[in-house]
Amino acid sequence: MPRLPQIRPNVLRMAPYVPGEQPGPGERIIKLNTNENPFPPSPRALAAIRSIDPDILRRYPSPTAELFRATAARVHGVSADMILTGNGSDEILSITVRTFLDPGDTLAYPDPTYSLYPVLAESCGIRVVAVPWEPGWQLPVQTLLASGARAIFFANPNAPTGTAVRPAAVRELALAFAGLLLVDEAYVDFADENCLDLVRELPNVMICRTFSKGYSLAGLRFGYAIAAAPLVAEMTKVKDSYNCDAISILAASAALEDQDYARDTWQAVRAERSRLAAELGQRGFDVVPSQANFLLATCPGGLAADLYRSLKAKGVLVRYFAKPGLADKLRITVGTAAQNDALLAALPG
Ligand SMILES: Cc1ncc(COP(=O)(O)O)c(C=O)c1O
Repeated sequence: MPRLPQIRPNVLRMAPYVPGEQPGPGERIIKLNTNENPFPPSPRALAAIRSIDPDILRRYPSPTAELFRATAARVHGVSADMILTGNGSDEILSITVRTFLDPGDTLAYPDPTYSLYPVLAESCGIRVVAVPWEPGWQLPVQTLLASGARAIFFANPNAPTGTAVRPAAVRELALAFAGLLLVDEAYVDFADENCLDLVRELPNVMICRTFSKGYSLAGLRFGYAIAAAPLVAEMTKVKDSYNCDAISILAASAALEDQDYARDTWQAVRAERSRLAAELGQRGFDVVPSQANFLLATCPGGLAADLYRSLKAKGVLVRYFAKPGLADKLRITVGTAAQNDALLAALPG
């Protein structure tokens, strides 16, 4: 009888990524736990999906999502060969790790941040150095530089804090760093600033974006990197041949074209973000000022785990991280006005 095949030791050792809970279809829940945009996707994206020609499903899609690259190049004012698409920005992060880091290399990132970074690194035998943020959620530039890392990842705005680093500070880090600096802009659509100009200027900066947050298309699975063309060319060798499907390429292209619609949703989320932060502040929460579509709030009395459970029992799902530095806090996605009102009403009086 064959036995279980041997598993790579670093895979056996590593802890898995723990995604936020995803309730089943039809479950009546107010879902404020995984930072989706609460508004529907662009009508133009939905129309593109509805009018799919069956022949494009019969055939393989463009391996490099040329329709999307042309659209993104136009919208962002870069050349098409600076765009690499992926099955969500998670796949872009995975391709990046596999293109730029060898087993035994070091990946550094400010901590706390997106908990997928160490998982991707450890699955490839890459060492991670988690550098605590400096006070006021400033970039720990010197410690990151001293880490011996070959690549630095950081989310801007950051998750789960919602805080953002000014592009001038990111530029200082990039100028002083010999390796790859990946700026994960998953939440940038809700922020005041972005780092696109740095990609145009510096060959070691890559930005990574997604349709899961700003474009209300988390279920579509589509993200992209913007980086110097030679980096994109090497990453293209590493990715799966047809990593984005024909439907997602069409829908993401239509959604990106519809900037006016997307901007309206970002504006509405930003307005609700301010209102929800103020309301939580009045109820004794200490809320970190956010540039993203969620709030990190320290709970009165530090009883975050209890509050998470009591909200869930009332049908409101938020995110709780049982981790050092986060165990007294909840991360709450900004919903529609009605969803935020329901959250506020479910808080203990
Ligand atoms: C900082 C950050 N980067 C990337 C992602 C992944 O996004 P995607 O859905 O595009 O894979 C997330 C998702 O929560 C995130 O928080």
